[in-house]
Amino acid sequence: MDAKSLKVVQENRDYTMFSWSVQGASNPIHMKRGQGVWFWDGDDQRWLDFSSQLINLNVGHQHPKMLEAIKKQVDELCFAGPSFATEPRGSLGKKLAEVTGLAKAFFTLGGSEANENAIKMARLVTGRDKIITRYRSYHGATMGSMTASGDPRRWAVEPGIPGIVRVFDPYCYRCPFGQKVETCHRECVSHIEEVIQMEGSHSIAAIMVEGITGSNGLLVPPDDYYPKLRALCDKYGILLIDDEVMAGFGRTGKWLATQHFGIKPDIVTCAKGLTSGYMPLGAVIVSDKVANYFETNMLWGGLTYSGHPVCCAAAVANLHIYEEEKIFENVEKQGRYLASRLEAMKQKYACVGDVRYKGLFSVLELVKDKSTREPLAPFNGSSPEMSKLAAHLKSRHLYAFIRFNMLWVCPPLIINEEELRQGLDIVEEALHLLDGSMGKASVARTGEPVGAR
Ligand SMILES: Cc1ncc(COP(=O)(O)O)c(C=O)c1O
Repeated sequence: MDAKSLKVVQENRDYTMFSWSVQGASNPIHMKRGQGVWFWDGDDQRWLDFSSQLINLNVGHQHPKMLEAIKKQVDELCFAGPSFATEPRGSLGKKLAEVTGLAKAFFTLGGSEANENAIKMARLVTGRDKIITRYRSYHGATMGSMTASGDPRRWAVEPGIPGIVRVFDPYCYRCPFGQKVETCHRECVSHIEEVIQMEGSHSIAAIMVEGITGSNGLLVPPDDYYPKLRALCDKYGILLIDDEVMAGFGRTGKWLATQHFGIKPDIVTCAKGLTSGYMPLGAVIVSDKVANYFETNMLWGGLTYSGHPVCCAAAVANLHIYEEEKIFENVEKQGRYLASRLEAMKQKYACVGDVRYKGLFSVLELVKDKSTREPLAPFNGSSPEMSKLAAHLKSRHLYAFIRFNMLWVCPPLIINEEELRQGLDIVEEALHLLDGSMGKASVARTGEPVGAR
């Protein structure tokens, strides 16, 4: 690293704090510049971004139309208070209503705040207190959304806010009810009904779920899970809050992950892919029923930066890019290639227990033993094997998200097949190393040497 880069890293470490880290152990990469699916570090080394930064940089780095729209809005009007009407705010609201089939949006600065406000609105509209959420979920780091999360990161802030009740997930590879998806009775839904009854249906304002669970294992539910959950909500007058912060806006090839399952939530929260990370913005998008309630009742919520014109202009441009450049079609096409590679890896490598995917949203779940499904690292923990995997990807300048015994593959949605191939080949090198270090030979189904292509 040159002296300038060393100084950048040093100042960042000395004067700023990094998320979810023991500060003394933080070891940030100096990112100098980015282009498309690539970024360059302090040594001018090029990295392939297989994580779209924090699974948000959907249109890739430095998209010219994004830069142009942001610059144009900056020149025109940088800021208007949240009580003012502006052109980008109105256009964005209209577009969001169109793509979600919902009615109105309240703007925040990110996903955590969106979920805070969704909880608040659900409580106001229903006059009920409790929110049902799932154990394997992440809804944000602020106090309410962190408590709503099942993710172990909540432990540090417990007891958090009152009124959160958690249920189990549609995690078919490790079904909490010991069932198999082909023969089960969707106990992952029926047990929620039992919880509703035990808690008192009159006290439950909402069920809050990630459309497809992201950072807690990329759990794709069976096709009838959401229709059944929707019916349960309707039966008991409970609102369905769909957190699409990570899964929404093209990641799975649709505007919302729940659109794959043919249901309409009452409230959608989003952020990340809404602006592809170019500007901080989140939204709570609500149904007619919820919007109507607030026509005659106070919305007890507000933020100085709600409806920030530059953020809204960035989102409008980003949503246009999705359509103009047929991004969802690319997600479908590259998603098919990704799926075929992941399925082949599951066959080929002893350490790959399961692969789950929808569009360009995917994970490999790694195990010590395919038959016992013993995880390669414990829940909420790490292991020498997972560290070895991370070290290999890093040495090959592949930037990817790794947590517990899982490796996510979530590249920018503009990726092409050659770029995807390059990254997946590096992932395969690492899997081969892992199999070797556990004394297990990789079965090369095609007969070719592992890694050769
Ligand atoms: C599903 C989900 N909800 C909410 C959040 C929180 O969003 P933010 O970090 O923008 O506050 C995240 C962040 O990763 C997320 O993945």
